[in-house]
Amino acid sequence: MPSPVGSQPQSPASAGSNPADAEDITVDPNLSDETDSAAGDEVAESTASLTDSIFDYRKIHGRKFQSSRTTEYWAPIDEQQVQGLDITHHFMTILFDDQLYLAPIGDHPQRVLDVGTGTGIWAIDFADQFPSAEVIGLDISPIQPEWVPPNLQFQIDDAQLPWTFPRNHFDFIHIRNLHGGISDWPALYRECFRASRPGGYIEDVEFNIRTLSDLVEPDHIYHQWNALFAEAGERMGRTFQIYDQMHRHIADAGYTEVTAKTWKVPIGGWAADQKLKTVGMYTLYYLDQSLEGFALYMLKNIMGWEYEEIQVLVAKMRQGLKQWKKWQPYYEIRLVYGRKPE
Ligand SMILES: C[S@@+](CC[C@H](N)C(=O)[O-])C[C@H]1O[C@@H](n2cnc3c(N)ncnc32)[C@H](O)[C@@H]1O
Repeated sequence: MPSPVGSQPQSPASAGSNPADAEDITVDPNLSDETDSAAGDEVAESTASLTDSIFDYRKIHGRKFQSSRTTEYWAPIDEQQVQGLDITHHFMTILFDDQLYLAPIGDHPQRVLDVGTGTGIWAIDFADQFPSAEVIGLDISPIQPEWVPPNLQFQIDDAQLPWTFPRNHFDFIHIRNLHGGISDWPALYRECFRASRPGGYIEDVEFNIRTLSDLVEPDHIYHQWNALFAEAGERMGRTFQIYDQMHRHIADAGYTEVTAKTWKVPIGGWAADQKLKTVGMYTLYYLDQSLEGFALYMLKNIMGWEYEEIQVLVAKMRQGLKQWKKWQPYYEIRLVYGRKPE
């Protein structure tokens, strides 16, 4: 269970208000790159028992999959991809030292909204932690389980449509990994602001989806992949780059005391720190499962690539990630929270 509200995690990175202020990852001194080619098997073996236990629990809930009628979301919602959301929740919770959020929302949040709730895994855990809170999980796709805590309900709707929630209503609005789902982020944050109660908080946690490495040449597959997705996101009209802008947009919407924290997160088990090593292995497993799903819609529908070309690119990227011992790839996670003035 998450630890008490308000206690701050032992951040693996610095927690300054400068959003770019993330601590570098210390490399495991015992790392050898001899087994790079077998890294994929290693991923599967070393995370199998852990992921089994997550899925054993989550699989008791039935799941439905279908597309939204009002908007096209870029990531598939088939079983493989949706399991990736639960893996992500798991490793992000490890990264945040078992806390579901960092905003200082106090011990008695009453009305809580999770925008783009996905499988609802965050909202379920939050509702369990605060049985007296009323929690709403909002998503365009009905991929949530049917058996959930009694204080949680899901609503299927596009968060980009005008909201019908009352003004000054929510104690806490939570968003996580909604990049690629929103065409007008300032408008979304303004809706959040209107629906937040005075003194209430917003928190948004987004990945920088770029795969970074301090060791690769500029023409490396990581850079090719990053450039393609950045371009595809802009062409789609729903950017992946909200990571860099959310601090400013949340402040512009009217929230104050806006605070940002950034983590550098390894891909693969190359960090010296045991927690980062675990998070890195989960991330690698998640990416290995999800790369093709990410690429299919973006490269075919948005960029007009042929299926075979996509397969070649995905294979190259997958291979590049398997060489994590050699290239020490990482990405960044940023969390921003702010408070509506009294
Ligand atoms: C990457 S998932 C993250 C799910 C969840 N927040 C989590 O962290 O586990 C993004 C979710 O946002 C939903 N989504 C995307 N665009 C949306 C929109 N315009 N309105 C509501 N939900 C949206 C998708 O259907 C998907 O379930």
